[in-house]
Amino acid sequence: MRLLGIATFLVGLAFGQAQHVLQVDRGSSLVQPVYRPLSLGSTSPLGWLRDQLELEANGLAGNMFDFYRFVHNSKWIGGTTEYSILDEASPYWFNGLVPLAFGLNDTRIKGQVQYYLDYVLDHQQDDGWLGFETTHQTRGLWARCLLLLGLMQYAEADSTQTERIVDSMHRYVELAHSMLRDNYTGLLVHGDDVFDTAGFGVGRTHEYHIPLQWLYEKYPRNNSELIWETMELMIEGGVLWGADWRTFFVDGVYPTVYQDGVTPWNLSWVFLHGVNYAEGLRYPLAVYRMTHDEKLKEQTRFATDLLAKYHKSLAGTIIADEYISDLNPNRGAELCIAAEMIFSMTWIYQYLADNDLADWVELVAFNALPASISSDWYSHQYVQQENQPWSRNLTEGSAMWTDVNSYSTVFGLEPNYPCCTVNHPQGYPKFLANSFVSTEDGGLAHVYLSPGTVSTILEDDNSVTISATGTYPFGLNLSYQVSASSPFSFYVRIPTWASNASKMTGPGESSSQPITPSSTGLQEVKIAAGESTFTVELDTQPRVEMRANNTAGVYYGALLYSLAIEYNDTETPARQYNTQAVLPTNTTDSHSHDHIMVPTSLWNIAIDPSQIEVVQKNVSTIPNPVWSLGAPPVELRIAAIEIEWPLLYDSPDIPPLNPVTKGKPFSARFVPYASAKLHMAHLPVLSLPEVDLLEDKISE
Ligand SMILES: *[C@@H]1O[C@H](CO)[C@@H](O)[C@H](O)[C@H]1NC(C)=O
Ligand SMILES: *[C@@H]1O[C@H](CO)[C@@H](O)[C@H](O)[C@H]1NC(C)=O
Ligand SMILES: *[C@@H]1O[C@H](CO)[C@@H](O)[C@H](O)[C@H]1NC(C)=O
Ligand SMILES: *[C@@H]1O[C@H](CO)[C@@H](O)[C@H](O)[C@H]1NC(C)=O
Ligand SMILES: *[C@@H]1O[C@H](CO)[C@@H](O)[C@H](O)[C@H]1NC(C)=O
Ligand SMILES: *[C@@H]1O[C@H](CO)[C@@H](O)[C@H](O)[C@H]1NC(C)=O
Ligand SMILES: *[C@@H]1O[C@H](CO)[C@@H](O)[C@H](O)[C@H]1NC(C)=O
Ligand SMILES: *[C@@H]1O[C@H](CO)[C@@H](O)[C@H](O)[C@H]1NC(C)=O
Ligand SMILES: *[C@@H]1O[C@H](CO)[C@@H](O)[C@H](O)[C@H]1NC(C)=O
Ligand SMILES: *[C@@H]1O[C@H](CO)[C@@H](O)[C@H](O)[C@H]1NC(C)=O
Ligand SMILES: *[C@@H]1O[C@H](CO)[C@@H](O)[C@H](O)[C@H]1NC(C)=O
Repeated sequence: MRLLGIATFLVGLAFGQAQHVLQVDRGSSLVQPVYRPLSLGSTSPLGWLRDQLELEANGLAGNMFDFYRFVHNSKWIGGTTEYSILDEASPYWFNGLVPLAFGLNDTRIKGQVQYYLDYVLDHQQDDGWLGFETTHQTRGLWARCLLLLGLMQYAEADSTQTERIVDSMHRYVELAHSMLRDNYTGLLVHGDDVFDTAGFGVGRTHEYHIPLQWLYEKYPRNNSELIWETMELMIEGGVLWGADWRTFFVDGVYPTVYQDGVTPWNLSWVFLHGVNYAEGLRYPLAVYRMTHDEKLKEQTRFATDLLAKYHKSLAGTIIADEYISDLNPNRGAELCIAAEMIFSMTWIYQYLADNDLADWVELVAFNALPASISSDWYSHQYVQQENQPWSRNLTEGSAMWTDVNSYSTVFGLEPNYPCCTVNHPQGYPKFLANSFVSTEDGGLAHVYLSPGTVSTILEDDNSVTISATGTYPFGLNLSYQVSASSPFSFYVRIPTWASNASKMTGPGESSSQPITPSSTGLQEVKIAAGESTFTVELDTQPRVEMRANNTAGVYYGALLYSLAIEYNDTETPARQYNTQAVLPTNTTDSHSHDHIMVPTSLWNIAIDPSQIEVVQKNVSTIPNPVWSLGAPPVELRIAAIEIEWPLLYDSPDIPPLNPVTKGKPFSARFVPYASAKLHMAHLPVLSLPEVDLLEDKISE
């Protein structure tokens, strides 16, 4: 970190009657992460994760540039269509497609993002504004956060573009800074401004911190103070508006159950909105990096604990439809939340280094996110329910939720608000890009254990390539091939659920030894110069998570399990998100369809989780697509019995307290949650007579 000298200057700002003072410490340095992400493009996917990213590239994400009106015909690239005055659609898309393009090194996708990059940079306005808006009424800063996130990744991945991207970012930040200095123009609406009358941008002021902190550290030029102050002004403006997340993650204030009709709610709506919340989790840490106030780091951990206790779904996302509610499994969780959770929890993990947070990232990536995306990656849901035995237009659906329509569980092109159409692509590419990280001692760690390969240069010109193969999370054996020009320390993160029977066969060793992970869950492996190989065999047992009213969810390793529900999938024309009219063909392509899925097997059961068997197929390759019913090579059998399960608003009601059983107990087939597009995962618990669980063992 270069030091500018410790001079402090004060900037007075007039806002209404109040006088606010910023203190800019010109020598300030940012708190550094424990684990540092590698440059985008250093890590490539292997195995099933490569298949998934290729499906994503060949699916909706990688094709909407060619047909989807909010991207193809975006005003950002000379078109005419935006879904809202926030003008955020194609910047969301760009933020997800850049890491997809470079994660896969895919020429076609790189062409799409290069076109967008060229257009947007070439049309930067004379005053530095990025985007097409020309009036103060329409110029909101928010969507440019997303653009900057995409630009930052692009500059990391493609050095031929870095200079012009950084030039453009500086010109823009100078303008944004002068706007913010002028009574927070572009952040707070004044007079007849229309750019953000609801307050999305003011609830997300810290979103600028990731790209601006990157710019500040890597390419500050002569603008360090200005960049720093821009971030402070964003926070300050949001605070004035009433959107300070430091006031939300507080005991007694945090809404343990929102809308119980009793708890008074004094804070802004912005905190209750699920996508805002997924982003807001990063707020205290974004500020902590600048203030070094340890309380904000502690508050970040506290925030994740509050979420885990009161609003986290079994699949790892935030239950919010679109507002946080309670833990009942008929409530929804918007797909954008899962995409944002991967990014937020990844970033938080890199600073806090708490092992359970990395497990949480995997939980979202292997469960919540793919559950809401069709196995061919061409359609998606707006909301998923933990208990969702059908995916169709609900006759009374909107009555159950706060701001979600009856069509939102349908897998479609835009079954509800189109934000998830344009924002879902970022999930897997960012997960991949952060799956290997560098460590404080100059080593490398594999923290998300899916298959991948990384090539990078460590300290002292140590050129290193590591490939992690295996079928994780479907199998628990990991194999590593390493090539290094000099010795270094490699680390494999051992999930918190791995038992002490987990083993490792180190480089050059012929037999396995028990693993000995550090307190943060890292298993060190000393790598010598040259080629080496080693293996890790994780061991675990099924886990039962008890929830309220004697209900449970069942996990094995990083996967949540659901009853396997057979279904009839009917393809129908894609419908428009607000009118539900069939979309004109000028915004669909031949693969865009909606899917109505109705169950053809039992869904209403209770389980006895004292009777569980694991059925693991020994496979070296995973079927593609893996997130479809029957594809994953690992399943569970759980003792179960049919029960009467009343409906509420055309969905299963909360799990019945004293369920009425029907028929005899049987061995129920449970599969990884994300492979069961129709699923029941949060079930009443009963004590049942012993059942022969392996009577229908899946064939090899
Ligand atoms: C990406 O692909 C290009 C062209 O196929 C190739 O030249 C380049 O080496 C690849 N980059 C990486 C990081 O694999
Ligand atoms: C700043 O904006 C606020 C909110 O629109 C307004 O009430 C206030 O008068 C403005 N202050 C100045 C100095 O323009
Ligand atoms: C910083 O400012 C100085 C003086 O104005 C100038 O000479 C120098 O080129 C600038 N550096 C950069 C990186 O812009
Ligand atoms: C809400 O605000 C009122 C008045 O300021 C205060 O008395 C009350 O304690 C607050 N309630 C909560 C839950 O913060
Ligand atoms: C879906 O159901 C709602 C009632 O819940 C109805 O108003 C709407 O027209 C239906 N949409 C379609 C496409 O059938
Ligand atoms: C694992 O832990 C259990 C319970 O603490 C203990 O009984 C067992 O011996 C341990 N096994 C190994 C391989 O260390
Ligand atoms: C538990 O059951 C009670 C009574 O039916 C219900 O009000 C509550 O919402 C349930 N809680 C959960 C988390 O299912
Ligand atoms: C699937 O649903 C469609 C549309 O409702 C129906 O025509 C068809 O018969 C169903 N197929 C099966 C196998 O149930
Ligand atoms: C697509 O068609 C609709 C109606 O058919 C029309 O209103 C719209 O302007 C068209 N959009 C484009 C981008 O051509
Ligand atoms: C993992 O590796 C061990 C030792 O090679 C082997 O016994 C075990 O069957 C493997 N597990 C799977 C699921 O392939
Ligand atoms: C699992 O499959 C691998 C490769 O197909 C084979 O080498 C290994 O022996 C098998 N393990 C078991 C336990 O069947």
